Amino acid sequence: MFSTRTDWDLRPSPLFTLLQQKRASGEELLDLTESNPTKCGFIHHSSKLVGPESLQRSMLYEPDPKGLLSARQAISDWYKRQNISVTPDRIILASSTSEAYSFLFRLLCNVGDVVAVPKPSYPLFEYLARLNDVLCQDYRLAYDGEWHVDLSSVDEALSSNAEALILVHPNNPTGSFVKKEERDRIVSEARARKIPIIVDEVFSAFSFANDERCAVSFAGTESTLTFTLNGMSKLLGLPQMKLAWIVVSGPDEECAKAVQRLEVIADTYLSVGTAVQQALPQLLNNPEAMTQKILTRTRSNYESLRTACAAGSPATLLHCEGAWNAILCLPAKRSDEEWALELLQSLGVLTHPGHLFDIEAKSCIVVSLLPEHKVFSEGIRRILAAVE
Ligand SMILES: Cc1ncc(COP(=O)(O)O)c(C=O)c1O
Repeated sequence: MFSTRTDWDLRPSPLFTLLQQKRASGEELLDLTESNPTKCGFIHHSSKLVGPESLQRSMLYEPDPKGLLSARQAISDWYKRQNISVTPDRIILASSTSEAYSFLFRLLCNVGDVVAVPKPSYPLFEYLARLNDVLCQDYRLAYDGEWHVDLSSVDEALSSNAEALILVHPNNPTGSFVKKEERDRIVSEARARKIPIIVDEVFSAFSFANDERCAVSFAGTESTLTFTLNGMSKLLGLPQMKLAWIVVSGPDEECAKAVQRLEVIADTYLSVGTAVQQALPQLLNNPEAMTQKILTRTRSNYESLRTACAAGSPATLLHCEGAWNAILCLPAKRSDEEWALELLQSLGVLTHPGHLFDIEAKSCIVVSLLPEHKVFSEGIRRILAAVE
């Protein structure tokens, strides 16, 4: 009766089962997986956000498949303030970055085609690909004190007939930005093979240090067909508003064709609500207000984690350049899953096992840097005391 693409193993994992039991028993837990900004104290207090004005202006339904021009103009202005020229006609709105990926897989791939994705990375790729009848071919991010794109594995993935290459800039959970040198090699390889690049920049505003080696936004890429994704969920800490965008850049003729086709895909769903589009110009006027608040929290949690893991701790913190997660390698006597279970069972601290993000090392956990400092530092204190 059901499609094979939805034939998932839906049995709850032991970690999820334990979490349910703990919650049912009323035990107070320290959740170091929380990645919802609105649950970590980041609340917009302006009543004008999607208030009566935007709602009033959305009473007349005049959909534009690409999204309202006023919203696309606001996005274009936001890039202009970063010295990147993106015209509104090269921007397409979607209700989330996840939906934007689906639009792009539909645009670029046929059934059974392959897209190259970083490993480790964001667990949703597997689902997004499968739901769109696409297969993922991993390329590696390698760690030697910091993360690098393993360019030879990118070459391998591209030569396995990939229809698109995905970069996550910075990546989740490694927090690593693509470096300029890596960008130059990847862009020239993609251009030579005529393979479009999809660049997920949802965490690009969350950099801990202004490292000169990091590439800026790919939205200004001209030499090869590039789709750059961003949106309100991370940039403004407003995942519930459901607005993201795709910037199409590259050679004119290819961009024009891509935009035309994307417009039909977007027109088929018209999924972005009018009120949020009406509100976007005001929201994007000063996203830094929220970005800076979040960045102050993530940076301070990361720094305290670094201090706690320094000098003789059996836990090793992997170097992180930004974004909202950090990777902690715990002693190899337990697997990542066993650690996550043990930390929840004995300490009441919820963490992600690293395999969820395809981390190769066997005993890593992933912690969110978003939780309030008190929760974060107590969770980390308990974990480090236990591993010692
Ligand atoms: C790298 C990355 N891209 C995209 C998303 C999802 O963004 P959206 O809420 O816009 O779908 C996430 C969510 O965690 C993410 O980690």
